[in-house]
Formats: sequence, structure tokens, C-alpha cells
Amino acid sequence: MKNYTTIKDISNLSETIKEAILLKMNPFEFQDLGKNKTLVMLFFNSSLRTRLSTEKAAKNLGMDVMILNINDAWNLEFEDGTVMNVNTSEHIKEAAQVISQYADIIAVRAFPTLEDKAKDESEYVLNNFQKYASVPIINMESATAHPLQAMADAITISELTEKKTPKVVLSWAPHPKALPQAVANSFVEMMQDLDVDLTITHPKGYELNPEITRNSTINYDQEDALKDADFVYVKNWSNYNDYGKILSQDENWMMTKAKLGKAKFMHCLPVRRNVVVEDAVLDSGQSVVIEQANNRTFAAQVVLKQLLENI
Ligand code: CP
Repeated sequence: MKNYTTIKDISNLSETIKEAILLKMNPFEFQDLGKNKTLVMLFFNSSLRTRLSTEKAAKNLGMDVMILNINDAWNLEFEDGTVMNVNTSEHIKEAAQVISQYADIIAVRAFPTLEDKAKDESEYVLNNFQKYASVPIINMESATAHPLQAMADAITISELTEKKTPKVVLSWAPHPKALPQAVANSFVEMMQDLDVDLTITHPKGYELNPEITRNSTINYDQEDALKDADFVYVKNWSNYNDYGKILSQDENWMMTKAKLGKAKFMHCLPVRRNVVVEDAVLDSGQSVVIEQANNRTFAAQVVLKQLLENI
């Protein structure tokens, strides 16, 4: 692996999932692989799981870790040819090259604006790091993708499924804040590459990027979509067509114990209780959100291992 910016960077998904599960059984087996290597993690946005699990994964492989909240650094400029006489102090051209002097791998979290669709879809932060850095780049959630979360989700389903081809439902939920489509996008792409029967359910008008969902079943009837589900992944996303807007807060879309049936409940976290999902689901044995969060370490570890093996 040369970079991990999308799940398309994985060359052999089933082998990678198996490798992650082996790392989970023996996390310190490759603790010399990262010796004298440094991971620099850059955060443009908040994080709990990604930050801690990726640091833990790197340390399991013997790496040193440096973390920078970008708000604490100079304001970065991403436009080419700009006269930098207003708010930005340092251009990404220098910043990415400088960070590459200190890092063997750079990981970046940079959410979308949810205002400028074209700018967000250009992935200007992540792609500029990839363009100007001289070391591999990991996506810790960008404008349109969260491939580390999707890898953890794939590991979780692979570990817990009792069927060769489980039915997996991605179900939209209401939320008071406009959230990115990144988690849903990467989850859909990951499920399309796994042996699962995927259905996406959301209110009409909440379609994700059709280039991502074009090979997947969409059912606007949530109750019908959830029938016989083995795994139900609940996630809010703001509107993709009326970009970044909240057009529905319909609480009928909240996940309840009754709707979940016998399925396992999945969510990337953080989750708003009794808005996205009721307490009775999260507090039940059907919720696997903590297993998902635990698997974030081994998702990051398998990615770091494959990158280190290629340096
Ligand atoms: N799921 C996830 O990415 O969590 P954080 O935003 O806390 O990193």
C-alpha cells in the first residue's frame, strides 16, 4: 500500500481483513516494524476514536507519534498563486514538505465545508497533502470519505456474521446538525466490495452521491428495508443535492428496538441518544458500537503495517 486515502487503495480486501483480525489476536507481533519511524497526525477537526485508536495502532507497531491540532499552527493556504496578504500565513507547498521532514507517514483529518460542494469534492486538503508531501498519506476522515472507519466496520461484520452473505442495511437518521456524507460514502463502497446484501434506506431527497450508490439497492420505506436485516448501520448525513442542508428532522427515522428486530446495531460514534437511536438499542446486547470502536485500532494498525512494509 502506498497511501490510504480511499478504500480503493486496498489491494486485497479479504486478506487485509484477515490480517487485521490476526493483529487483533497478537497486537505486538510486529512491534519492530515501526522502530525509528514517526507518524504525524494532523487534525483540522475534533476526534476521539480516530485520534486515540490510530495512535495506539502506531505504538503497537513500535512507531513514534506526533499530533498537531492545525488550529495551533499557522493558517494554511491551499490556493495556487494567491497573494497571501490576508489571513493565511503558510502555503501547503511548504507545510507538507516540512512535515515530511519529521514524518515517515502523515495522517490527516479534514472535514468538508458543507457549503462549497465542488471544493469539498475536490478533496483539496487531502489531495494537496498527497501532492506536496514526500511520505505516505492516511485519510483520517476527509470531505467525502472515512476509509479507516469503513475498514473497522468491515472487520466487525466479518467477525460477527453468522451467514455467508448477511443482509446489511444503511439507515439514515435525523440529527440537529448538518453532518458530512463521508462515513456513509465509505461504508457503502466497503459493503459493495464485501459479500453482503446491502440496502440503503433514507427519506426521498436524501440520496447520496449517485456515483457511489449506483450499484446498490435504495428503498425509501425504512420498515420494508429493515426486514430480515442482520446488521443495521445507522447514520445521519446532510443533504447531498441541496448540499449541506438539513431538509428533514423526521423523528420517525430514529432507530428503535422494535424496528431493529433481531439485527445487530452499528454506528461509527459519536451518537446522539434518543435522536439518532433510542437508549434501548444502545444499551442492549444487539449494539456492537463498542466492538466497532475497538476495531478502529486494528483497522489503523493493518493500514500502518502495509504502509510501513512499502517504505
Ligand atoms: N468514528 C469516528 O471517526 O470517531 P471520532 O470522530 O471521535 O474520531
